[in-house]
Amino acid sequence: MALTAVKGFNDILPDESGRWQHIEQMARRVFELNGFAEIRVPVLEKTELFSRSIGDATDIVEKEMYTFTDKGENSVTLRPEGTAGVMRAFIEHKLYAADPVAKLYYLGPMFRYERPQKGRYRQFHQIGAEITGVHDPLADAQVLNMLTAFFREIGLTEPTLQINSLGCPECRPAYRTALRNFLDERMALLCDDCKRRSATNPLRTLDCKVPGCVEATAGAPSVLDHLCSSCDDHFSSVRRYLDLSATPYSINARMVRGLDYYTRTTFEMVTGLLGAQSAVAAGGRYDGLISQLGGPAIPGIGFAMGLERVALLLGSQNFSSCPDLFIATMGVGERDVAFRLMDGLLKSGIRVEMDYEGKSLKSQMRRADKLKSRYSVVIGENEVASGRATFKRMADGAQADTALTVAEIRACVMKSEQ
Ligand code: HAM
Repeated sequence: MALTAVKGFNDILPDESGRWQHIEQMARRVFELNGFAEIRVPVLEKTELFSRSIGDATDIVEKEMYTFTDKGENSVTLRPEGTAGVMRAFIEHKLYAADPVAKLYYLGPMFRYERPQKGRYRQFHQIGAEITGVHDPLADAQVLNMLTAFFREIGLTEPTLQINSLGCPECRPAYRTALRNFLDERMALLCDDCKRRSATNPLRTLDCKVPGCVEATAGAPSVLDHLCSSCDDHFSSVRRYLDLSATPYSINARMVRGLDYYTRTTFEMVTGLLGAQSAVAAGGRYDGLISQLGGPAIPGIGFAMGLERVALLLGSQNFSSCPDLFIATMGVGERDVAFRLMDGLLKSGIRVEMDYEGKSLKSQMRRADKLKSRYSVVIGENEVASGRATFKRMADGAQADTALTVAEIRACVMKSEQ
């Protein structure tokens, strides 16, 4: 039987990788402009890291983690998200020692055993960013503005920003109780999962897509009516800063997140273009996470975007780069000249292709077309004898005469670029 990839694990083929590189380069540019530095952490961590941060009663920890026992009898897990590992490294290397304010970004594969469908995979890729050490809502607004700037720079008007506040350990318990009381009265209408969730994690019922649950929770109490005064002030300031920077957003008081570490501000970048997978990026504040993992009481806020989803939104735009020049030869006798020119031009930064197999001129030109080379030069006996050849623009056939030297061919490419 032919070997294929594991279900939910995708190959990113050469005709897609240009788009991926474009997304990554844009994210690096926008994040570094905002003062973020890259951190690279392992894909495998001790299982306890995720159960202690994401939360035991979440779907991710309950049923989606790739967890196994290694040969040393340790329980290890392929990371289902990036924040926990980054914060583990932040604590382990005492990155807070000189300055608790750290701005970190990361990218790489994450793993969740979910049911694969368009935009949802078992190995997927996130680009994330985290700021530690700032209680002030200014950090929330900067993160949101940076995320908005990324989507603007990459040319997407979808997705749009939705924000919410989930309160803090002071005010959330009262909200949970109010919500639980509300759910108790409607228990018969809830699906089996939500019946269970109403005891363990009642906020998750607001996120259930089962029609009966959507209807039953339609009039549920709003978290925003239960914020304590400091959470309420915090949320108002976030909105004020967003207004000051003219960042568009809407409030979604029913937004809940699938990870337990959030406090106060949460947000999602949502789109209607990817079916059920509406969140292209998501995040929030996690003021208790670092101390929960054994570090000092330092707050944090951040987000992660799903690269597959951003790539889907960009559609089939082609971002792969094409050769500048194709050097074709009339016969095998000219291959030495062509090879020497190609080598010199490559060394001078011009992207050149030539025929590898001694094919006919016609099939060489077909290949030049297929590769979308911008220019071509054909070298035959006459060209070698005279030391001159025709430099041709592939798009319209416009021609110029050139010496068969690296300097002059390079000058032709550069001149045509202007
Ligand atoms: P999350 O909402 O679980 O948050 O994931 C963030 C993004 O990753 C989602 O909005 C989505 O675009 C993408 N994503 C998640 N699961 C999949 C999947 N199975 N297939 C494809 N894409 C997926 C977090 O992971 C938090 N660590 C975000 C964060 C950072 N919060 C604070 N800092």
